[in-house]
Amino acid sequence: MKDSPNMAEDQQKYRHNQSNLNISNQFFGARYRWSTVPQDAPQSTEEAQALIDQLYLSGGPFFSKEMIRLAFEQCQRKPVRGEMLYINDVTGAVVEFECQTGEVKIQIDHDGEKSTYLLLDPVLSYECRAHLKHHLWWTGIREDRSPFCSLTLLHPSFKFKTDTREPIDPTPRRPPEAVAQEFLDRSRKWQKSEVAQQLVHILCAHAAGHEISKIIGLALGAISYDTDDRSRSFVQHALLLTLQDWLMGRDKKDKPVCYAQDPAYRSVDRQILKEHGIEAIDDPRAWLEIDNESIVFSVAPNVPVKEIVADIARPAIVIWERVGYNDADREGKMSCTDPDSPRVRAMLAQYEVFDFGAEDDPDFCKTVIYIRRCSS
Ligand SMILES: C[S@@+](CC[C@H](N)C(=O)[O-])C[C@H]1O[C@@H](n2cnc3c(N)ncnc32)[C@H](O)[C@@H]1O
Repeated sequence: MKDSPNMAEDQQKYRHNQSNLNISNQFFGARYRWSTVPQDAPQSTEEAQALIDQLYLSGGPFFSKEMIRLAFEQCQRKPVRGEMLYINDVTGAVVEFECQTGEVKIQIDHDGEKSTYLLLDPVLSYECRAHLKHHLWWTGIREDRSPFCSLTLLHPSFKFKTDTREPIDPTPRRPPEAVAQEFLDRSRKWQKSEVAQQLVHILCAHAAGHEISKIIGLALGAISYDTDDRSRSFVQHALLLTLQDWLMGRDKKDKPVCYAQDPAYRSVDRQILKEHGIEAIDDPRAWLEIDNESIVFSVAPNVPVKEIVADIARPAIVIWERVGYNDADREGKMSCTDPDSPRVRAMLAQYEVFDFGAEDDPDFCKTVIYIRRCSS
């Protein structure tokens, strides 16, 4: 499609999307609807939820690299306001999202202050089976809106004071030197910890023969946040360094590729992680990188890591919360961002599970290590 002069102007105007400043915590759901309402569209919440379960149990992917790539390519083209983006829902029907980049929203905050939000380029958002069902409990059926979108679009935003137009940075960052020093100190302490040593011991004993070409950390949080409770993020990133060292020693090769994806990273995080051989990557690249020769590590993600991974690959090793029966797909149950589910359990039946001492460690949230059985 050829850009109209207005589109070109809009694109120029919203260059600040790429800047590194003041992205607020507020994301706005893009407007969407079925391109053509399917003839057999469900008429009730129960009908729609039953179909979600049926589709899920029948094994068709809720997430695939292909669907993520196609959606991402459309976002990368920097659509302008009013332009449509197309994504298939899990029934295969086409859903169109209207781009709202550049729209301005005014909201009253908790403290009664008015804030203005400027919507930025769309990003991908992931809805697991349980969330699709919860949305239906919250909102019910809407006439032309597909309740089956496992992949949707959100607009991040910049936040301003409405009266003065002054930009607000909701997540101030610490100076790079302080973050760098703390990462060094905490990493050294972590490497000497019993949990780190136990992790290496398990890897040596049970993952000696696995082909591993990359390490991928997901949702480990920003280390640059100016709050007192970042120890978890420091330690979790330090665990990536332990994995790198173990692999380097095992394979007698250079440092293996190590990626970390978290939309909360800013330039300070990127720079410091890079100095330690960790490359911060932007969503959705981690999903596209994960393969059967990967180690995937994630703690308390705000995104359904387990369900996405279970649909796209069988990594050699996954390190995440112990999987049980917290499927979170019943009405009234607290909705959880990374629930367990039948497909995740089916995937993990091919893995051996080990507690490396992090299960009771507050920095890790019941984390254990799953190592794929060699024969699978
Ligand atoms: C509850 S915090 C957990 C942070 C850290 N792992 C911890 O244990 O404190 C959830 C994290 O998920 C991240 N997240 C959300 N969407 C993500 C995505 N698409 N890819 C990777 N991380 C994501 C958030 O930015 C946030 O840092």
